[in-house]
Amino acid sequence: MSKLLLTIAALLPILCGADHGWYPVYHVAPPQGWMNDPNGLSYFDGYYHAFYQHYPYAPEWGLMHWGHARSKNMLNWEHLPIALTPSLPEDIDGIFSGSGVVNEGNLTLIYTGVSGNSTHQEQCLAYSSDGVNFTKEGVVLKKGGNDENFRDPKLWWQDDSWFVVIGSKTDDNRGEVLLYRSPDLKDWSYEGVLASADDKLGYMWECPDFFTLNNKQILLINPQGVEQDGYDYQNLYQTGYFVGSWAPGGNYTVEEGFKEIDHGHDFYASQTFLAPDGRRILIGWLAMWESEFPEGADGWAAMLTLPRELTLSDSNVIEVRPIREVQKYREEISSNSDPITISGGAPYGLLADAKANEVTVRFDTASTTAKTYGLFFGNEAGSLNISVNVDLGRLFVTRYYPNYNITESERSVAVDLSGPLNLDVFLDSSSIEIFVNDGAGVLSSRIYPVDGQRDLVAYQTDGVAVLSQYKSPILRKVEVPIVENKKCE
Ligand code: FRU
Repeated sequence: MSKLLLTIAALLPILCGADHGWYPVYHVAPPQGWMNDPNGLSYFDGYYHAFYQHYPYAPEWGLMHWGHARSKNMLNWEHLPIALTPSLPEDIDGIFSGSGVVNEGNLTLIYTGVSGNSTHQEQCLAYSSDGVNFTKEGVVLKKGGNDENFRDPKLWWQDDSWFVVIGSKTDDNRGEVLLYRSPDLKDWSYEGVLASADDKLGYMWECPDFFTLNNKQILLINPQGVEQDGYDYQNLYQTGYFVGSWAPGGNYTVEEGFKEIDHGHDFYASQTFLAPDGRRILIGWLAMWESEFPEGADGWAAMLTLPRELTLSDSNVIEVRPIREVQKYREEISSNSDPITISGGAPYGLLADAKANEVTVRFDTASTTAKTYGLFFGNEAGSLNISVNVDLGRLFVTRYYPNYNITESERSVAVDLSGPLNLDVFLDSSSIEIFVNDGAGVLSSRIYPVDGQRDLVAYQTDGVAVLSQYKSPILRKVEVPIVENKKCE
């Protein structure tokens, strides 16, 4: 190697920052720079598309672009060129969140263009026939009057019309969702306020979504300004849903009040779309505003969740499961055949040095006498603790990464302990997603393990805990490497 090349090679780690090994293996993260909300989730021409709020020049929020990745299976993602860059007078201060649909053979995106020193928000269109290169069509929908908070359009087709819901706030600072209708995505008529907050549900509703599950109409919103209430609403902002009924031209009648859709530390601004086989898939931002983002030192920040499949139970509760595509990527399964009894404070090792693994465990709650038991990932210097508190009937997740300023309080979800407790845990390099009892709950959190902090054990603190089953496949990536154009490698 020439002297010059050697010098450049030596300088790269300085230019690109460190590499803590936190870049995800099977989740979408920006190739470099910053990411927030998933946008334009869609299926077009044989690929799933995930766009996202993106600032390519630094690992922090800035002038918003739309980053772009695509996948054949929602696990192996390929980065594509940035899809949308501010360029028009109407989007010169940022391309904010929006959605994507297939219309007349084009992948068509609707997004919020921000302008006027960030005081105006208007809805703009862009389209592409190849799913890679986009042409902007400009503004198609304006609010009129004060449009400083009029953003995140989510489109769908129903009864021979396009509909869009848009997040907004009332003049007296309550979140609301506005509804519009169009024959062609260009001429829009205002259909009214679909729903708005009472005095508890926040001053602004971001990223609304409106879709059908089990013949009910789900309104998903991301309220800002909701106060913590016991175990609920512990994050800075929330993502949750109402269940109700609606038909074009009518009012939305809410039948079930607001419920959070994820209970971890890091979940916000999710979006759903319909897979070609009719599944309703949800992807969220696996982060939270004002989080620490220690991976910024490595030149990138934030990631998206594993895609999830949504169904609605007969009692009007959304069930959240990992997409079934993960089953095809389970390899090298290690599992136990006999029940394992954990006692005397001696943890049972499940995985050593885990990086991209799924672990399914089943606790036999009938034979378990411990009042506190669960899974522990890490060591005393940095860890994640997943613990069942039998008396409270809750599963808690506690993070402890003091080197990165992360020692905040636990998050939790109520669990039914009257039968076996099943946990389906997805670990990636800096994330954990815990699916509880086949759809009953999910908790998503970022984690920041360093070497020596990637061992997973099952434990109890008193009595005995009985693990009746565990499986720990390694999730293999077999097609396109996700880090293909990550600059700093
Ligand atoms: C939600 C959000 C959206 C907005 C985007 C800006 O996280 O605030 O309302 O469109 O992020 O990046």
